[in-house]
This record gives sequence, structure tokens and C-alpha cells, in this order.
Amino acid sequence: MISGVDRIRFSSFGDERGSLVPIENDKDIPFRIGRIYYIYNTTPDAVRGKHAHKDLNQVLLCLSGSCDVLLDNGKEREIVTLNTREEGIYIHGFIWREMLHFSADCVLLALVDRPYDPEDYVFDYSVVKRFAEEGVLQ
Ligand code: TYD
Repeated sequence: MISGVDRIRFSSFGDERGSLVPIENDKDIPFRIGRIYYIYNTTPDAVRGKHAHKDLNQVLLCLSGSCDVLLDNGKEREIVTLNTREEGIYIHGFIWREMLHFSADCVLLALVDRPYDPEDYVFDYSVVKRFAEEGVLQ
């Protein structure tokens, strides 16, 4: 995985009735949840995200179906497929992200460490590139 992103594996409690995955603050994820949102009803050619965050940590987890997440820290780029209920990605760096290739039944859950703040968004990829090269956010 590229620097600034890690896979995160959840414990699933399964028996003959089905499976259950608990997610507790500071235990199953490395932060306290300040916000949750989920994405669904996506069109086949939808590309979402297309931004970085100045200062935000989040976990993305596909609760149903699948999608791809393109991750780019300005130096490395990787596309990760999310298609299991037991593993997500923890994005904790200054990372450009795009979500795409959603299956029709995709439900993408985001667990975020803080409230929504439009000021935290960076929509210019060249800022991510420059940050990776020069280490300063401009
Ligand atoms: P948007 O940022 O376009 O989603 P994505 O990055 O996944 O493509 O968000 C769509 C709309 O939802 C936009 O009007 C902002 C709003 N929104 C909130 O009000 N709160 C939130 O936590 C998020 C993520 C979005």
C-alpha cells in the first residue's frame, strides 16, 4: 500500500446465524469517529472524491458490492478494490482519492475522525504533487 494508506482488517464474529463486525473508537479503528457517511445508488460511470484532505483521517469500507479507490500521495499511486465486509482502508496522509467502478449494489461507508468542513478539501492535484516534493502545503 502507498505511504499514508493502510489496510485495516476487522474482526468478524460469524456463526450459523450470520456474521457481525463491531467497530469501536480507538480499538477497531485508530481514532474516534466524528462523522459517518455512506455512498449508494451510484451510476456505473460515476467517479467520486477527486480531492485530498488537508487534515483528516478516515476509513473506507464497502458494506455491500464493490468499488475501486484510486489513491495517490503525489509520489505513488495505487488502485485498491474494496469488496469485502471485513477489510477496509485507513487513509491518514495527504492523499488524493477517487472512488470509481461502483457495482450497482455498492454501499460505501466512510468513518471519519471529524465533522464536515469544506475548508479541509483540496481539489487541485498539483497541490498534492507539490506537497510530496517540497513538504509544504501551498
Ligand atoms: P461530495 O464531497 O461531492 O462527495 P464525494 O467526495 O464522495 O464525491 O459530497 C456530496 C454532497 O454532500 C456535497 O454537497 C457536500 C455534502 N456533504 C455533506 O454535507 N457532509 C459530508 O460529510 C460530506 C462528505 C458531503
